[in-house]
Amino acid sequence: MISVDKVVKRYKDVIALDHFSFHAGKNEIVGLLGPNGCGKTTAINCMLSLLKFDQGTIELFGQPVNPNNNKTKARIGIVPQELAIFEKLNVVENVDFFCGLYVKNPAKRKELVDEAINFVGLEKYRKFTPGHLSGGLKRRLNIACGIAHKPDILFLDEPTVAVDAQSRNFILDGVKKMKDQGTTVIYTTHYLEEAEDLCDSFVIMDNGRNIAAGSLEDLQNSISTTESITVKFISEPDNLKELLENIKNVNQVIKSNNTYNIQFDKNNNNLTNLIHFIEENSLTYTEIRSEQPSLSNIFLELTGKELRD
Ligand SMILES: Nc1ncnc2c1ncn2[C@@H]1O[C@H](COP(=O)(O)OP(=O)(O)OP(=O)(O)O)[C@@H](O)[C@H]1O
Ligand SMILES: [Mg+2]
Repeated sequence: MISVDKVVKRYKDVIALDHFSFHAGKNEIVGLLGPNGCGKTTAINCMLSLLKFDQGTIELFGQPVNPNNNKTKARIGIVPQELAIFEKLNVVENVDFFCGLYVKNPAKRKELVDEAINFVGLEKYRKFTPGHLSGGLKRRLNIACGIAHKPDILFLDEPTVAVDAQSRNFILDGVKKMKDQGTTVIYTTHYLEEAEDLCDSFVIMDNGRNIAAGSLEDLQNSISTTESITVKFISEPDNLKELLENIKNVNQVIKSNNTYNIQFDKNNNNLTNLIHFIEENSLTYTEIRSEQPSLSNIFLELTGKELRD
């Protein structure tokens, strides 16, 4: 659905995209992740042909992007980072305006507008102007404006910033539903836990470049941080730390009171091996927890930075 190949975009002296590449297939949610100023919005604006770029190629639906191709534009939805709604128009009028850019038939348009308003849960606010909506509800209106014409590709640029928990859940459930209906979603966010839960694959950006791409499993396999298993023991022989260090594939054991954090090299059977060791030595424990590297761990290892909220 989207193919971006080695795109370079300069704003005078600033290189905002530095040979940036990106791919998204049908029916997937791709998380575009990276720190402030790394080039996410610039990349989206180039894909939308709202911005001209200096080098490289971008294809949507197998065709090079072109600002004058209205047929392609009708298949794309954008929910921009900054709210793009009319203050003087009410909820229905706002959604109708954006839907009307692509759908001319009045009956069809009314149906789509009603559907989009219900989809984002704004049915009680149909006659409200944005000035009378909370921040979270305004964001939902911004989304309704971007999705009403049922695009095949939807760009969502930081849709959950400064949004309360209720609206955030509404937005995330809506994005999952869009995917289930066959939409390809490009989703930028600073919230890595949110991305980890929502996205099928990820592109991690830093300084205008894509530094890693793939599913969570692909990314976990590309870094050296490994599985970590934490056990809270009840019975604890004096040399337990040493014994644990001798289990196959263990590379480090960190002890804190009776809790042991055991870091393993890559292996599929680490937890099984550890439980086997516990049984063989007749040890007892109250808690055991295995964790694979999270998206935050991966981001930190790849960029050397934490991506804070
Ligand atoms: N119109 C512009 N003129 C000059 N420089 C710009 C312009 N727009 C963006 N930039 C610069 O390009 C770089 C990328 O900006 P961009 O807005 O794409 O980042 P971003 O990843 O979307 O950031 P954020 O997470 O803050 O939204 C930054 O260094 C920014 O200052
Ligand atoms: Mg941005």
